[in-house]
Amino acid sequence: MNSENQPAKLTTASGKPYYEHENSLTAGPRGPVLLEDFILHEKLAHFNRERTPERVVHAKGSGAYGTFTVTHDITKYTKARLFNEIGKETRVFLRFSTVGGEKGSADSERDPRGFAVKFYTEDGNWDLVGNNTPVFFIKDPKKFPDFIHTQKRDPRTNTKSATMMWDFWSLNPESLHQVVILMSDRGTPASYRHMHGFGSHTFSFINQDNERFFVKFHFKTLQGIQNFTDSEATVMRGMDPDQAQRDLIAAIERGDFPRWALKVQIMPEAEAATYKWNPFDLTKVWSQKDYPLIDVGVLELNEIPDNYFAHVEQAAFAPAHLVNGIGFSPDRMLQGRILSYPDAHRYRIGANYEQIPVNRCPFTVNNYQRDGAMRVDANGGSAPNYFPNSFDNIKADASYKEPAQNLGSNVMADWFDRNAEGENDHYTQPGDLFRLMTPEGKKNTISNIVGAMQGIDGPKRAEIINRQLCHFFRADIGLGLGIAQGLRVDVSSFAGGTLHAN
Ligand code: HEM
Repeated sequence: MNSENQPAKLTTASGKPYYEHENSLTAGPRGPVLLEDFILHEKLAHFNRERTPERVVHAKGSGAYGTFTVTHDITKYTKARLFNEIGKETRVFLRFSTVGGEKGSADSERDPRGFAVKFYTEDGNWDLVGNNTPVFFIKDPKKFPDFIHTQKRDPRTNTKSATMMWDFWSLNPESLHQVVILMSDRGTPASYRHMHGFGSHTFSFINQDNERFFVKFHFKTLQGIQNFTDSEATVMRGMDPDQAQRDLIAAIERGDFPRWALKVQIMPEAEAATYKWNPFDLTKVWSQKDYPLIDVGVLELNEIPDNYFAHVEQAAFAPAHLVNGIGFSPDRMLQGRILSYPDAHRYRIGANYEQIPVNRCPFTVNNYQRDGAMRVDANGGSAPNYFPNSFDNIKADASYKEPAQNLGSNVMADWFDRNAEGENDHYTQPGDLFRLMTPEGKKNTISNIVGAMQGIDGPKRAEIINRQLCHFFRADIGLGLGIAQGLRVDVSSFAGGTLHAN
């Protein structure tokens, strides 16, 4: 209805009102369709172009807008303006996702969950593109495409393949920590509301005095952790593949706004050189005994976007998008991701993806990028399109320069040495994690792993099982034994270093 309470007129895409939307123009009542019916062409042609490529990973997702509110003062660590005052509110958009499945896959798959937050800050958009786990499967970005291939479909059968997954994991033991988390019941969260989120990488905080601190971000769910068991998740996949999406919409619509407490772990820059773990290794956590959680604020989701494609599908997050007061770290995975995401967005939704409303910075943007497909803002109008120039008054402000990072010391050289002490300890942290689980948690983890490994087949089955079992044994004897028993592997000659998988 328009403002005079009259029905609104149906129009073509170019705005011409027309009278017939359902029947094609034909030559007589039973004759063929006329070429002249350009409205038919417009409908069919637009329909053929409705899909953008799905995300190469994290294709299935759900999103909502909300607010981040500062509750504690952390200004001694960072000058980022979104944190500069208790009570300050910043609008956010959060997209949750699964990783390996396609856009139509089930929400309750055993998989990490994406937890990507865009903070619309007055210093630009800050994207914290994390997961519901504090670690990851690999620690070098060069391995990412190979790893993801093993999580997708077998090139011949076009089915998911336990053989590919376990072959890769067993050949890359740094994956063990994340594999143990994935195989625990945390691998099947009961909803997106009932899981934590993590920035996962180590980032920098930089304060007013230009001092650098290393920081890890944790979002703790205030709904409490709730997971499906393996069999509950299996049932849910068939019963309602879109269950997590439905759950998020229902909660927000009934006013039960999901909330997370943002906390940080802070490591003074100098301590990075001596910490017992490489603090930039994404397969390791920092002990909370060494670096306790510090309260920062509360994130609340309170608005489901009125159109899924416009907001959730076109959302484009990039670990490269940081703001003044938050910086990178030498974490190699983070470094790889800085390049990868904007490249993915340019391919998926075009060079001007940052002008799409969900991605647009609501505050000032002044740069000299112009033109390109689907440029939908004023394109800089008549202002100069080059820098420096004698006409506009836009200056590069040196006060935004970050302090240099100390990458040249001998200690840093040690960190980058793949054989440095502790660098190849892929076992202590996953073993500790398993030992911390409740008896039921341990039982479920073992049975989930056994179930998942049973799918390994083909001529390399025994070799892959044996190699992976050795990793589980090295993390924890009880874990290794439980899995070996479940898989009916003869471990009698294990002391001699050999296992015999059937
Ligand atoms: C999505 C690459 C590691 C979390 C993506 C996308 C790419 C990608 C290309 C699709 C982007 C798009 O089309 O919009 C990589 C590479 C990695 C890496 C190259 C390692 C070198 C990680 C890690 C995390 C992560 C370690 C979490 C800690 C996510 C999330 C999304 C995503 C949450 C979905 C964002 C959204 O909701 O739109 N990744 N990724 N990725 N990645 Fe990664």
